[in-house]
Amino acid sequence: MADAIGNKAAHDYHLDVPAPEQGFFAKGLGHGDWGAKNRLSRLFNPKSGNTVMLAFDHGYIMGSTAGLERIDVTIAPLCQYTDVLMGTRGAIRACIPPTVHNAICLRATHDASVLIDDMSTGNGLGADMEAAIRMNAAAVAMQCFIGGAGEAQSLETLCRAVDAGERYGIPVLGVTAVGKEMARTTEYFLLATRILAELGASFVKTYYCDHFEKVVSACPVPIVIAGGKKLPEAEALEMAYRAISDGARGVDMGRNIFQSECPAGMAQAIAKVVHEGYTAAQAYEVYQEVLHSQG
Ligand code: R5P
Repeated sequence: MADAIGNKAAHDYHLDVPAPEQGFFAKGLGHGDWGAKNRLSRLFNPKSGNTVMLAFDHGYIMGSTAGLERIDVTIAPLCQYTDVLMGTRGAIRACIPPTVHNAICLRATHDASVLIDDMSTGNGLGADMEAAIRMNAAAVAMQCFIGGAGEAQSLETLCRAVDAGERYGIPVLGVTAVGKEMARTTEYFLLATRILAELGASFVKTYYCDHFEKVVSACPVPIVIAGGKKLPEAEALEMAYRAISDGARGVDMGRNIFQSECPAGMAQAIAKVVHEGYTAAQAYEVYQEVLHSQG
């Protein structure tokens, strides 16, 4: 029971201090309740408004791909340079120490493996919202196949995740998956990102493309870009720089970090672009410094 004897009479109502603004820094997400906004503020740095997500979920369709044979060895040391870890519950709980401070974006669909000719034929729920809560996830990631045979099924899965996420205040990342037959055009990404946002995704992951600023402009929530296949480091930094300049709110990057000659250098260089406005050339210097410091 509170000790009333030690209480002082209230003496300062700070009448000259305005009440806090209720605005929210993330585009299109001011409507959420406090828990959702708190999670978004862990996903996106409120100061820069941006995020560096480290994607290492590739094994859920590709098995032990180059660079991800031992997630505990290759990915865990990179956590310190990134804001968000994007992976499956199996990989995260087995290979990432629970002491990390990163926000978790849980891969929550199961999708066709690389043995299936066209992965866009369909998917389903790989982890439900209770699993996400047990993993202390700040968001769940749902793969969607706009224009693919599995479009309707993947959008149904997305919508049910949005419903469940809204019940618990867990944002949903809509992932525009580019299947075999889908061209990576501006028109395609304009369509796909907009559909996922309209269906309730809190943020959308897509690929960088020509006229990316239009894709960003027409999407009412933040966009992050995937890295795609491994590029020379300078080119990957250039792509990240252009995406951020065009309005992307971050990267969800995998192979261009963990397949790099110096993953720690790439993670740090990418963070400079995303959070500190470094140009690609300046960030490449950061990469080189870390590379050479490692001998
Ligand atoms: C692919 O299986 C995953 O969705 C990845 O998270 C995504 O493609 C980003 O990784 P990367 O930068 O390697 O393309």
